[in-house]
Amino acid sequence: MLFAHRKSGHITGQGTSTWAVVAAAGSGERLGAEQPKAFVRLGELPLLAESVRRLEESAWVDAIVIAAPPGWEEPAILLAEELGCGKVSACVTGGATRAESVRLALAEVPEDAVVVVVHDAARPFLPEEVLERVLTALGEGWDGAVPGLPIADTVKRVEGDRVVETLDRSALVIVQTPQAFLAPVLRRAVELGEGTDCSSLVERAGGRVTVVPGDPRLVKVTTKAELELVESWL
Ligand code: CTP
Ligand code: MG
Repeated sequence: MLFAHRKSGHITGQGTSTWAVVAAAGSGERLGAEQPKAFVRLGELPLLAESVRRLEESAWVDAIVIAAPPGWEEPAILLAEELGCGKVSACVTGGATRAESVRLALAEVPEDAVVVVVHDAARPFLPEEVLERVLTALGEGWDGAVPGLPIADTVKRVEGDRVVETLDRSALVIVQTPQAFLAPVLRRAVELGEGTDCSSLVERAGGRVTVVPGDPRLVKVTTKAELELVESWL
């Protein structure tokens, strides 16, 4: 499969084949800022800028679609222009859930796209090596690939405040984004319903998903503490 074995952007005659969808349409309720989380300041720029800039600079990504919070489509486009992100092809209004936002963004991804990488704007620190790992896995025949990290803490299943079971943490991973999928597989899966990540939809649709090493720097900004942590790395 050609797409997974190249590092250059465009191959003459093949068109644009690896698309990135940036899920940025959340409200950021837990962060509790005045503006949606994607537009909270991270250093000099809105949080969204960091991941979009990294996708723009990635040798693995050909084009980008952003799902923005309602009313923030124009600021998102202006930001992309300001950053000189020519790969940003569209910005759509996101939906009420993450899955819905991805579904709406996928509608802007052309039919001939081969691969779609879905990334949370809430994970600004996006290493190129992780993109390489998830996309290489697709070239090995998987329908999808997700970055995962081992769990350091003991994990228990609970019902209310009662502990029901202690899980075998060696069989569990914490999953991040970017998550990569064969485009037709993801398109079918997002029609099936809701999930907290795209992989869960693909798994439900019978897709074969592999896990590759994630990166602790892909921390998800949920509260002010993570925002400050990521800011300290810039
Ligand atoms: N997201 C989205 N559309 C939604 C909800 C979430 O595109 N309707 C995106 C967020 O912008 C974020 C990612 O999905 O980049 C992960 O979601 P989360 O961290 O939960 O962000 P928010 O939903 O914005 O935060 P909160 O749950 O605290 O409101
Ligand atoms: Mg949320």
